[in-house]
Amino acid sequence: MVYEPPAIYGIIGNPVAHSLSPVMHNAAFKALKVNAVYKLFPLADRQELKLFMEDLKEADNPIFGLNVTVPYKEDVLQYLDSIDPLADKMGAVNTLVIDHQRKIHGFNTDGPGFLSHLADINFDLSGKRVAILGAGGTARAIISVLCMLPQGPKSITLYNRSRANAQALVEEVGKKIKTGIVTIVDDIQGLNIELADLLINTTNVGMKESDPLLIDPGFLHKDMLVYDVIYMPRETKLLAQARLKKARTVNGLGMLFFQGVLAFWHWSDVELDERVKKVMRKSLEEVNHGS
Ligand SMILES: NC(=O)c1ccc[n+]([C@@H]2O[C@H](COP(=O)([O-])OP(=O)(O)OC[C@H]3O[C@@H](n4cnc5c(N)ncnc54)[C@H](OP(=O)(O)O)[C@@H]3O)[C@@H](O)[C@H]2O)c1
Repeated sequence: MVYEPPAIYGIIGNPVAHSLSPVMHNAAFKALKVNAVYKLFPLADRQELKLFMEDLKEADNPIFGLNVTVPYKEDVLQYLDSIDPLADKMGAVNTLVIDHQRKIHGFNTDGPGFLSHLADINFDLSGKRVAILGAGGTARAIISVLCMLPQGPKSITLYNRSRANAQALVEEVGKKIKTGIVTIVDDIQGLNIELADLLINTTNVGMKESDPLLIDPGFLHKDMLVYDVIYMPRETKLLAQARLKKARTVNGLGMLFFQGVLAFWHWSDVELDERVKKVMRKSLEEVNHGS
């Protein structure tokens, strides 16, 4: 038998050690009996990113697909040979496909992954009032897709600790996507959580035990969905308070799963069957169970 080295996939970013993507993608490779492995590629700075991306072009490089995470989702744009129209509109890429000519193609599956998760839990966004906490990369992906939906939300209120970052996000996204439904508010009260159908936390706040609750839980109510993009811990303080108020709650594990399924589809050009998706989801839930 001739030894065939495995095709390499992986995630680039800083940090990447905490990523659950290897668990999910390696489970899929195993289930499909594909000779491939998904690895972590920590890149300390932009210089390391530059060298890594240049090396990706080399004919003998065995890497055929990558995820991109913070802080490089925008930095990788300059190294692409082509960009998917959605990723271009969003101005950020989280998935790279490297073809056999070593051309690099960029996609974004974060926003679509979020929408797929909402569809999976049967949450209909049309005409809804959405309140968003945070204006980083995840907020950018979510706001972009929400604003592009033909039958999307009625309104989006956006609060961020640094107003200037929220302003910059809306201005940048607004260059290619209509953002007329988005209103930036100056304080948390301005989010009008008591009237919202969907509250999304896109900040890092809630990952640490010592993190504060950013909102007044008195405004949470039973007719809303509270979505926290954090998946570790499985139940943040925000989700725990929302559960006490009988709101519907959901963490970010589903978004992670669906963005991964969509990335895999870009790499393989094959839609994953339900059996493999189940294996991927189970692998994530098992790893996340203790948190
Ligand atoms: N479920 C998934 O698939 C998925 C995917 C991607 C990311 N995530 C999670 O999403 C979270 C955010 O990631 P990101 O890539 O969007 O990060 P990011 O680009 O660094 O943005 C972080 C956001 O959190 C805000 N923030 C940070 N610390 C804060 C504090 N102490 N008080 C108030 N606001 C604070 C920042 O506000 P300023 O602008 O004021 O700094 C910014 O709006 C992380 O927990 C990440 O793990 C989940």
